[in-house]
Amino acid sequence: MDFELSPEQSQLREMCREFAANELIPHARKWDEEHRFPAEAVKKLGELGLLAIAVPTEWGGAGMDNVAYALAMEEISRGCASTGVTMSVNNSLYCDPVLKYGTEAQKREFLLPYTAGERLGCFGLTEPEAGSDAAAQKTIAVKKGDQYVINGSKNWITNGPVADAIVLFTMTAPEKGNKGITAFLVPTDTPGFVRMKPDRKLGICASQSCSIYFEDMKVPARNVLGGEGSGFKVAMSTLDGGRIGIAAQALGIARAAYEEALAYSKERKTFGRPIADHQAIAFMLADMAVELDAARLLVWRAALLKNQGVRHSKESAMAKLYASEMSHRVTHRALQVYGGYGYSKEFDVERHSRDARITELYEGTSEIQRIVIAASALKG
Ligand code: CAA
Repeated sequence: MDFELSPEQSQLREMCREFAANELIPHARKWDEEHRFPAEAVKKLGELGLLAIAVPTEWGGAGMDNVAYALAMEEISRGCASTGVTMSVNNSLYCDPVLKYGTEAQKREFLLPYTAGERLGCFGLTEPEAGSDAAAQKTIAVKKGDQYVINGSKNWITNGPVADAIVLFTMTAPEKGNKGITAFLVPTDTPGFVRMKPDRKLGICASQSCSIYFEDMKVPARNVLGGEGSGFKVAMSTLDGGRIGIAAQALGIARAAYEEALAYSKERKTFGRPIADHQAIAFMLADMAVELDAARLLVWRAALLKNQGVRHSKESAMAKLYASEMSHRVTHRALQVYGGYGYSKEFDVERHSRDARITELYEGTSEIQRIVIAASALKG
């Protein structure tokens, strides 16, 4: 077993750390307060190859592996969790399924412009009545000649307000249950694609999500992704990769809170000495350090398995479950280290504790991750 990163992975991590220090950390508080999408920073991510890290260079990606992707997600999210999820959706939920299931023609149209930051993708699975129960899709696609007519709605679509294309899941044969689901690639300027205004949220306020309605939206049959009736497997296998990205995002948020609390504990004095000298605080910092490393090991293991091309549903679910709940605990402990100041908008730790919370909800709640892990354990 080898925990050494390759020179390319180390370089990428260093580049992302510098990018976060220079381009994200100085602005993240303001973007959060103003609910402002960091369009310039996202464009720069594209120029640096960070919007398609594990996509081969022939398709415009960085041609790196999934461990590199996890390293980059941790560093970018350490700087700004909202920028982190924007990047994660384009990498994992958009480019990855197009690369894996797309035809050559689909990759030319729907992958190449999305790897360089010229355009942004999103992933349309969640519906008002199909969140955790992803197979309960109500959005309907009816075939008429060589096109499909799509009606229905999606909600909480991250990148929805700014995306140029969507990987869209629909029901084409309701009587077949999850085997009646079909995925499509749809440009967001297609007539009948109607976006609502961005959602107002507790955290990741600079990342934009929205509801989307489809009103007699016509999509050519050549835009079916992965074959009619295969949509559920496209969605689930895509989420196996996406959950690695969100786990790494949770890790980055927690590390930001931990590093800030560590520095603060050396400066702030009570009872005549730095609070770090009080065992109550030092033990909190020790627990945070252990949990961060444990989460990172789970994330890297899942990423390594994805590199090997083997099914990694359980390992991704474990990484996402542990890292997100760890991020909740660590950010709240960090806030405790700050005492009353932690509750103030003058410091970033309150934002980290709000940003961490979503990682226990999206790309499958903690309860869904436990279902996936238990199903795998019970199967033996
Ligand atoms: N890879 C490949 N195939 C898979 C799979 C996977 N990871 N998981 C399941 N399947 C297959 C199964 O093998 C099965 O196939 P067969 O019938 O041929 O045997 C089929 O799919 C059905 O599987 P299940 O019976 O396990 O399906 P289920 O209906 O019980 O659902 C679930 C399982 C785990 C609960 C699933 O519905 C789920 O993951 N729900 C959560 C949805 C989710 O994560 N949504 C996130 C939305 S995206 C988002 O959040 C983006 C964002 O904002 C950033």
